[in-house]
Amino acid sequence: MKKSILITGCSSGIGYCVAHALHKRGYRVFATARRQESVERLLAEGLESLRLDLNEPDSIQQAFEEIMHRTHGQLYALFNNGAYGLPGAVEDLSREALRAQFETNVFGWLELTNLVLPIMRKQGYGRIIQNSSVLGFAAMPFRGAYNASKYAIEGLSDTLRLELMGTQIFVSLIEPGPIATQFRANALKALQKYIDIDHSIHGEKYHAVLERLNKQGPAVPFTLPPEAVLKKVIHALEAHNPQARYYVTFPTYLFGFLKRFLSIRLLDKLLAKAGNNN
Ligand SMILES: NC(=O)c1ccc[n+]([C@@H]2O[C@H](COP(=O)([O-])OP(=O)(O)OC[C@H]3O[C@@H](n4cnc5c(N)ncnc54)[C@H](OP(=O)(O)O)[C@@H]3O)[C@@H](O)[C@H]2O)c1
Repeated sequence: MKKSILITGCSSGIGYCVAHALHKRGYRVFATARRQESVERLLAEGLESLRLDLNEPDSIQQAFEEIMHRTHGQLYALFNNGAYGLPGAVEDLSREALRAQFETNVFGWLELTNLVLPIMRKQGYGRIIQNSSVLGFAAMPFRGAYNASKYAIEGLSDTLRLELMGTQIFVSLIEPGPIATQFRANALKALQKYIDIDHSIHGEKYHAVLERLNKQGPAVPFTLPPEAVLKKVIHALEAHNPQARYYVTFPTYLFGFLKRFLSIRLLDKLLAKAGNNN
C-alpha cells in the first residue's frame, strides 16, 4: 500500500512543490488548500485535493474525516505547512492581529496534529513534519507576530517529541531561511490588513519593509527554491531515525551557529542589522 501524506497550504510555494514531488515519488498525497479554486487547480493537475482552511475548525474536521474515509483510517504522515507572515513592529500589533496570526500558524496546526495523532498511535507509526523557520529560533525586527508563531510551533514540537518518545511516531521541524515562494506577496496583504502604518511611531521604517515585500525576485542573498525544503522533507519521511531539526539555507546554518556561540548582546546586533537590511 502507498504511504499517505496530508499536506496543508498546497496552492503555492513549498506546499505545492512538495505535494507534486511526493506524488511523483509514489506517495498518496492529500494536497489541501483553503481556496476552492486552488483545490480545482490541484485536481486538474492530477493530485488528490481537498479544501482545508486552518482558520476553520469545521473545514479541518471535514477534510480529516474525508481522508480517513478514503484511506480506511490510515495516515503515514502530516506535513504542517500552510501559514503566512504578518510583518509589523510589536508596538503596532493589536490583539486581533496577533490572534489571527496564531489562528492560522499555530492553532490550526495543533488542531490538525491532534486529529491525526490517535490514528498514528493506533497504527503504531507516523511522521509529523512542521515547516517552521529560521525565525523560529532567531528573532528579527518587524517580524514579531510571525516570530512568536514559529517559536510557539518549536515549543509545541519539542514537547510533543518528548511525549512521543518510545513510539514510532517522529516529529521533525524544518527550518528554512529565505525560499522563493508567494510568502512576501502574502505578507504584504497581511500588513495592509492589520497594521496602521500611517499612525505608527515606526512610519519611516515601514518604507523599507514595503520595499522588501514589493521587490520582484529574491529579496535577500542565499534564497533557495522550494526544492531545497523538499530534500529535507523526504529525509524526515524516509530516514529510519529522522532528525528533530532540519536546517535549510545558509542563513539558517549561520544563525543556528551564532546563536550557540555568541553572547545575546552580539547576536542582537547582528539580527537587528540583518533584519533592518532586508
Ligand atoms: N518562503 C520562505 O522564505 C519561508 C521561510 C521559512 C519558512 N517558511 C514557511 O513555509 C511554509 C510555506 O510557505 P511558503 O513560503 O510556501 O509561502 P506561500 O507560497 O505564501 O504559501 C503559503 C501557503 O499557506 C496557505 N495558507 C495561508 N493561510 C492558510 C489557511 N488559513 N489555511 C490553509 N492554508 C493557508 C496559502 O494559501 P493561499 O494561497 O490561499 O493564501 C499557501 O498555500 C510556511 O509555514 C512558512 O512559514 C517559508
